[in-house]
Amino acid sequence: THIDWSADAAEKGGYPDFMLKEIYEQPRVVRDTLAGRLAGGALAIDELGLTLEELNLIDRVYVIACGTSYHAGLVAKNLIEGWARIPCEVEAASEFRYRNPIITTSTLVVAVSQSGETADTLAAIRDARIKGAKVFGITNVVGSPVARESDGVIYTKANKEVAVASTKSFIGQVVSLTLLAMLLGQVKGRLSQAQVRLLFRELGDTVQQIQRILDQQRPAIHDAALACKDASSALFVGRGMGAAISYEGALKLKEVSYLHAEAYAAGEMKHGPIALIEPGFPVIAVATKSPTYDKTVSNLKECEARGASLIVVATEGDKDICAIADHVIYVPAVRDAFSPITATVPLQLLAREVALLRGCDVDQPRNLAKSVTVE
Ligand code: G6P
Repeated sequence: THIDWSADAAEKGGYPDFMLKEIYEQPRVVRDTLAGRLAGGALAIDELGLTLEELNLIDRVYVIACGTSYHAGLVAKNLIEGWARIPCEVEAASEFRYRNPIITTSTLVVAVSQSGETADTLAAIRDARIKGAKVFGITNVVGSPVARESDGVIYTKANKEVAVASTKSFIGQVVSLTLLAMLLGQVKGRLSQAQVRLLFRELGDTVQQIQRILDQQRPAIHDAALACKDASSALFVGRGMGAAISYEGALKLKEVSYLHAEAYAAGEMKHGPIALIEPGFPVIAVATKSPTYDKTVSNLKECEARGASLIVVATEGDKDICAIADHVIYVPAVRDAFSPITATVPLQLLAREVALLRGCDVDQPRNLAKSVTVE
């Protein structure tokens, strides 16, 4: 008999593709990114390269990044403004570098890049430093240009990511940015040590929560994928953190399945995208329990009334959602701040399933590169 062995198969560790392998590594990525970060009851991020006094002076934050890393920035904005009350903007590095952003010596620029070598992100870092900003890098590659050219760095412990579309790196970025936001909140005196410890413990709980999604939701995700595989377009909606997650879900679907997808803040649907909805049109919603849950549900009812095929990522125990959704994918209950760490996972799996049903190569989508070192 023929033994089907290749270096490639061995590297995939028994998974059919790198994308799935990397999605399944996410509990480990969260655990490793958090390891050693709480020392003696306080957050310890020594590699930041700034003193607590310098951090305390920060009065404006820009998160600059591209692609999936940009979506991690959208999550960070919510957390930094929510916990530290520092104004935070998220910008595509390719835009930031050609604008004249307002930068002073009390501006913190957070550059997020899996590869640590994206040309636009690097150029934005250089520009920001010349203008006097402090720069933190969040990267997955030790010693990469982003790490070398920043004042300080947090490494995302995802380990090498092979699939072109980023999955586990995104989760590592979100966890790292969450720690940074907690630190800023603590330094600004807006989060007490007790609050930081509680948040840290709950962050650690997401390790098991992601695992539970991987263990239990694959069949529901497969059914949902069957419902969108023949569509020519899909809409992702959510509010707040749910909107940030939706942007990443839509990008993932576009990247690997070539199905056109667009993400929208659910409250904005009535100003345009609702015109797209006709019977069978797939709407993928992030409607986990959050302060805007009821608002999101009323937006979804408007989609349902127009015949949309509704796929909803909802919180375990939410039975009411079944009344309007065609497919429900459940994620464990977490505080809204941590929902990107859990609710993104089913959307990664959904994108992969749709891509496979459409016969696409999930690890190497056409026209895309893992790292973009030219402009
Ligand atoms: C490319 C990759 C994306 C990635 C983006 C930013 O477009 O295909 O997966 O999100 O670059 O890359 P970076 O390494 O800077 O995070």
